[in-house]
Amino acid sequence: EQIAVAVGNMLIEQVNEKPDSVLGFATGASPVPTYNYLVKCFNEGKVSFKNITTFNLDEYCDLPVEDKNSYYTFMHEQLFNSLDIKEENVHFLDGNAEDTEKECARYDAEINNAGGIDVQLLGIGNNAHIGFNEPAESFTVGSFKVKLTDSTIEANKIYFDEGAMPHYALTMGIEQIMRAKKIVLIATGPKKAEAIKNM
Ligand code: F6R
Repeated sequence: EQIAVAVGNMLIEQVNEKPDSVLGFATGASPVPTYNYLVKCFNEGKVSFKNITTFNLDEYCDLPVEDKNSYYTFMHEQLFNSLDIKEENVHFLDGNAEDTEKECARYDAEINNAGGIDVQLLGIGNNAHIGFNEPAESFTVGSFKVKLTDSTIEANKIYFDEGAMPHYALTMGIEQIMRAKKIVLIATGPKKAEAIKNM
């Protein structure tokens, strides 16, 4: 709860100072208390999100956007539907695009055209993955299509009907993420300790 208030207030300050801020969002459990806090502050009239632009980190491939497990659905249910954010300013990688290379290039160009990301919110996996970037010897660059590792499939398949867990996803690359002017990474609980120490 303390992290939610600290991160939430930082984002609110950012948006109040620059109402047309570009924010990068993540899914997963880590940012949910922060999203709840943002909704509470919005309902109390402390901030308006009507001029912000958002880019999400990642999205599954081969999953309809309206599926209950798509990151599009997650973000709308956890945050966007409860704010005054304009739908046309909300951006996701299209995991169902026919030409994923073209789709990734489009996404990176849109981020650049928006002036880059002012604040990027991140979580981190137990094995230190960021977005769907698994730990590796070199950093990835722009957005790309990734084959999910067995450990990621194992961790996330609980949310899906048997056999329905996608095996591919689109994700921003590490260099693209690191171009954000500010990054806030939320990691809570003992399962994240080793990843944070090694990071
Ligand atoms: C989600 C994402 C993932 C999560 C990570 C941690 O958009 O990019 O890398 O941040 O899997 O997930 P939680 O917060 O559920 O522990």
